Order: sequence, then structure tokens, then C-alpha cells
Amino acid sequence: MIDLARLRQAFPDRQILHFDSVDSTQRVAAESPAGTIVLADHQAAGQGRHGHSWHSAPATGIYCSLVLPPSPVLTLALGIAAVEAIAQATGIQCDLRWPNDLMLDERKTAGILVQLINGRAIAGIGINVNQTEFPEDVAPLATSLRLHAGREIAREDILFALFPAIDSVVAEDSETILRLFAHASSYVAGRRVIVDQPEGSLTGTTAGLDPAGFLIVRRDDGTDTLIVAGGVRAIGS
Ligand code: BTN
Repeated sequence: MIDLARLRQAFPDRQILHFDSVDSTQRVAAESPAGTIVLADHQAAGQGRHGHSWHSAPATGIYCSLVLPPSPVLTLALGIAAVEAIAQATGIQCDLRWPNDLMLDERKTAGILVQLINGRAIAGIGINVNQTEFPEDVAPLATSLRLHAGREIAREDILFALFPAIDSVVAEDSETILRLFAHASSYVAGRRVIVDQPEGSLTGTTAGLDPAGFLIVRRDDGTDTLIVAGGVRAIGS
């Protein structure tokens, strides 16, 4: 169980809402004032990126949404903050797959969804913490901190580290965030990838981020393509 009283005491300036079960913390956050943090123990209709659902089994993961001011590279900043918080709380170092998947053992252990609604950023963070199994369709692609570490992990410890990490990374300028992301991610440069796009898939080697935070992929003929929307897979994983 998450000790809400302790969490609220540690972050007295934030409104922290908690639900045993909710459809999606994104929906509640979109209806809440700026600065609100929404947590749930279970989501019946967790939302992932690109219209996918986010498997949100009871009392195992972190399902959290925050109401933030929009900023240019916010999704990248939140990924960095989540990596930092997990490392600080558990000692586990996740990789970052551009733009915002946290990876362990080449599988996804956390995801971030930023929705711009009425001039505010509704920032959702889902972390697979103590899951020991996943639905058949995502099982080959997903993992949890517990499956990686072979021990149970206290969700609360991650939350205590997460909110200050978000505040501190989001306060950095874009250039610093891009530098931090490139440092934390093995995907940003020199990685052979396939990128699934609506017009077909593209194969190449990653060659850095452009100033807006988009991923540059260099094809084998030497031409560069700017990837703006994810769908990046490492070749061989
Ligand atoms: C992704 O597809 O990688 C993004 C997943 C985001 C899931 C989180 S869980 C908390 C918040 N509420 C939701 O319904 N989705 C986000």
C-alpha cells in the first residue's frame, strides 16, 4: 500500500488525489487544477500512446498523471526524471528508448503519455513495478522492475523520488534536457533501428537529436530522416 499521508506530508504544496480504482488518471487530471498529481492503484481503462491501452493491474504498478505547464521537450524531460527516480529509489538503471519508453533487458518497463488539453500538459507516467505477468499480447515486449531485479520493489520509494526529479528536470532549458537525454539513452546515437511509420518501415542507424528533440536516423545510403513520432525498435530485439 502507498502511504498517502506520508506522501502528502512530503509534498504539502501539491494536491495529491488517490483512487483505489479509476478509469484513467489522465481523465481525472484533465479535469483538475494546475499542479495536481493523480495516483491510482488500478486503472480500468489505462491509456497508452497512439490509442493503445495501458495494462494497469491492481496494486502492482505506478499509475500517475500530473497537470503541468506545456514545455517544448516535456516528454523527453519526463523520461529522464523517471529514469533518475527509479535509479535513486532502487539502484536499477533503465535505458531510454526515444522518445519516452523506459527499457530494461530490451523490454519496456515504463511509458509516458503527454496530452495537450486546453493549454495544459496532462503528463501520464506508467511504471511496471511489481508485475510478474502480463497479458499475452504485451508479454514478449514488457517487463517490470521486479522481474528485472528478482525482488519486490516499494512503489512508494519511487514516488518519493519521482516528484522532485520531475520538478528539477522540467526546470532545465531544452538544450540541457536534450543533452541529459542523449546521455541516458543508448538509442540516440549509433544504434541500428527499424522505425515503423504509416508509409512503411525504415531501417538505419540513429544519429542524434535535432534541436526540437526529434530523432535523426541515417539510412544506409547516407540520407537522414527525422523521426517525429516514435515506433523505433532496435534491430535484433
Ligand atoms: C505508453 O504507451 O508508453 C504510455 C503509457 C502511459 C500510461 C500512464 S499510466 C498513468 C496515466 N494514465 C493513463 O491512462 N495513462 C498514463
